Amino acid sequence: MHKHEQIRLLKGLINHLDNKTNINAGGIIKTPADTYTSEERFTREWDSFFLNHPQIIGLSGDLPKPDTFITTEDFGVPVLATRNNKGEFKAYVNICSHRGVIVENVERGEKSKFSCPFHGWTYSNEGDLIGYPKSEQFGNIEKTCYGLKELPALEKFGFLWVHPSQDGVIDLEDLLGDELIKEFDSWRFEDLIFSNEDVYTTEMNWKLAIDTFGETYHFSVLHKDSLFQSFYGNCQMFDSFKRNGRLILCKRTIDELRDLSESEWDICAGSLPVYYLFPNIIFIPTLEGAFLVKEYPAENSPHKSYSKISFYFHPHILEHLKELEKTGINAKQLLQDQYEGFASVIRDEDYAVAASSHKGLRSGNLDYLTFGKNEPALHHYHNTYREALGLQPLPLEEV
Ligand code: FES
Ligand SMILES: [Fe+2]
Repeated sequence: MHKHEQIRLLKGLINHLDNKTNINAGGIIKTPADTYTSEERFTREWDSFFLNHPQIIGLSGDLPKPDTFITTEDFGVPVLATRNNKGEFKAYVNICSHRGVIVENVERGEKSKFSCPFHGWTYSNEGDLIGYPKSEQFGNIEKTCYGLKELPALEKFGFLWVHPSQDGVIDLEDLLGDELIKEFDSWRFEDLIFSNEDVYTTEMNWKLAIDTFGETYHFSVLHKDSLFQSFYGNCQMFDSFKRNGRLILCKRTIDELRDLSESEWDICAGSLPVYYLFPNIIFIPTLEGAFLVKEYPAENSPHKSYSKISFYFHPHILEHLKELEKTGINAKQLLQDQYEGFASVIRDEDYAVAASSHKGLRSGNLDYLTFGKNEPALHHYHNTYREALGLQPLPLEEV
């Protein structure tokens, strides 16, 4: 993030703290209960946001070197994503052209050839069919017609985008807009090194998971004994970038910045930036690395979802940890524990109340959920979501 923007945001937080204020959306909005519970709405979301929309499947660090791969089936189409031996990011439908079996079943690894488990047809990491057993008995087929189907793939600013449709388009201008493109260009997410991934399945609509990342109004209550110890609650800055948003959470360490010159301020030292990237990504850069949270509906249901939370570290942090380990400290483990601790707060506190909220909505006794003046990220999220589905925006009610 550009220095002047870091300073503007940190100053904004300090200002809120000093004046006991928070960002103000100017009113409240109410989102109808069926946003979360309607089967019909869910079918439209799945079609618009998952089957027919570019997806962030990971970061560059998920494919750390040539001849590495990852697979996913999170958005309906089985995907095999590779880094070829020239270092290029590629994506293919992970379906064998012989009889449609999933070719690679492992989630991540290192190899340059993929052999189908059914009859052993083998593909290169550029999607070419390079061989099939007993070709004389099978018959002489035109191998160039039997490659894996390629999907649009783009690696930029450290993110890996795939379009689930072979003729889909990934247009970054359209997805992010100029301002966010410039901002992402100023971070160095491409250097982040993958460390670990957790998957949490919860009985709740997938959007409730995203809602939990949209405000800190709940910190002093739900996270009283956890995050509230290191964050000021109900104090944020928010900006939107087309359909995406950036919420800046206020760390208590922001007070240490007051004694430093502005040129020494670091956005991650005094705050936690939380990017929401339409339609289903939460991305959180930290001093040590980043969290990538991907939210997906589960079992084709509006009532169940899962979150994939991946941890990444900066190379210099891992170097530093190695040095520390020479002194006998298991520093990598300590950092890993800290990251997993944060993820468990999301699972055991945020998602637990979100599941409870979903139960409340399903009971049919609540007509709408209400988002306050101090929750503008959720105003933006819900109105963006509605706009993307061709629904009217939710009216702002002055209160
Ligand atoms: S289905 Fe893949 S080799 Fe036959
Ligand atoms: Fe929370």
